[in-house]
Amino acid sequence: MSDCTPEQFRSDRMAAWIKSVWMPTHPQTITLWTSVSVINETVCERLDRARTFEGYCYAGMEPTECPILPRIKQADDRGLVWRQTGAFIYHFVPDTSSATGTPRQPFDVLVTSVHLHENGWSYAVLAAIPAAFRTGWAAFVEECNRLDEAYDQHDRVIVIGGRQNSFVPMVDWDEIVLPAALKADLLNDVDAFFKKGVSIYQRLNLKPFRKLLLAGVPGTGKTMLCNALAKWALAEGYLVIYISSARKTSNEEEYTTSFSKIERALESAASSNVPTLILLEELDAYLHEDEKALVLNVLDGSEAPANPKGTLLISTTNYPEAIDERVLKRPGRLDRVFIVPEVKTELDAVEMLKRYLGAMWDDSFKEFAGELVGYPGAFIREVAIYALTQVAQDDLPTLPTEVLEKSYKALKAQIDARDNFLKQRSFGLGDPMRSANGQLTH
Ligand SMILES: Nc1ncnc2c1ncn2[C@@H]1O[C@H](COP(=O)(O)OP(=O)(O)O)[C@@H](O)[C@H]1O
Ligand SMILES: [Mg+2]
Repeated sequence: MSDCTPEQFRSDRMAAWIKSVWMPTHPQTITLWTSVSVINETVCERLDRARTFEGYCYAGMEPTECPILPRIKQADDRGLVWRQTGAFIYHFVPDTSSATGTPRQPFDVLVTSVHLHENGWSYAVLAAIPAAFRTGWAAFVEECNRLDEAYDQHDRVIVIGGRQNSFVPMVDWDEIVLPAALKADLLNDVDAFFKKGVSIYQRLNLKPFRKLLLAGVPGTGKTMLCNALAKWALAEGYLVIYISSARKTSNEEEYTTSFSKIERALESAASSNVPTLILLEELDAYLHEDEKALVLNVLDGSEAPANPKGTLLISTTNYPEAIDERVLKRPGRLDRVFIVPEVKTELDAVEMLKRYLGAMWDDSFKEFAGELVGYPGAFIREVAIYALTQVAQDDLPTLPTEVLEKSYKALKAQIDARDNFLKQRSFGLGDPMRSANGQLTH
């Protein structure tokens, strides 16, 4: 043994232990070196249990006693267990949704892990798997690697063209007051693309690239929806890239470079090896004459570098009328348009007002809430904030209905005045260049 390195000694002992305790009851088993990502506890917890690996689904893992392997966990700076040593049993069950003639049995895989060096950073990991599951195991390891990498690097949204490089999305799905059917439809669409759609595109030999548009007047919650989807996507282990608005200045230079932001995002997506969500705010601002052709090519997919794991582009616009027929109607350019509406029902108006008034909400406001139907969420929030400011200024213990109504009237007057101003200046709202040249922003 003198010419054996300690590493060989450890893995040999692991292999010998597997042989003596596992092989007798698990014939047809082979032992493989495997990736450290399979012993990432966070990965194991978040692995999609509906996903199939050669007809089998992962059904959880647990440690098992092993006298030669200590159990040591290594946590990252978020407190998540990143790596661990010891012996573990991984359960796999047949995927019932694709049941074939012959019933198949669940089975287990034994995984052993040990530190190679005293510094605790490198590991030797072995897996004893049924020989017949070799390709399934390879697919399982690949999925673990993908998640392992995603959690390592992409727990934040990457920003292109903004003042900060990245941010942590904080909006919860429940905070958004919109028709439940719309929210469910949007989330299902996004989820289905990544979980099922990508493989369909690949089978058809198409680039897995889907494009959605959220359209609605300013302040209806489109940016909020993007933020909540970003949070959801990060939790799924996807990469999220946010392209900040192009409408920063009316400077020509800015326009000629704005398209390059979309290009950069698509390139990052293609090289990420991770399903990627790209959020493109205010698509209309990119459709000015200089770059329109380039943007259309991207939407066609002809200019976009392919991400084999799938790229979903969600763009928003406050001015759908600025997005001309060439984009909206031509098949394949935008796969789906979601209209994000103003507050539609009295119930939604009540919910919105409740959310932004907090403890100052009183059931007697219900009647007044009816007046708010037809306005965007942002307007109702402003009404609430304005009213709360009055309460604070006057040091009132509760919010009188009159203060709330006054706040509404004051803000409504502001909007009416602005609309009149715009009409007088004859800035037709249907003029695409108005939004594209950045003169009027909200
Ligand atoms: N549907 C909504 N539900 C809850 N709050 C909303 C909603 N719409 C707008 N708001 C409030 O108004 C703010 C601005 O909305 P935002 O998402 O930026 O609108 P948009 O992107 O459609 O212009 C939000 O941060 C939120 O405080
Ligand atoms: Mg917005």
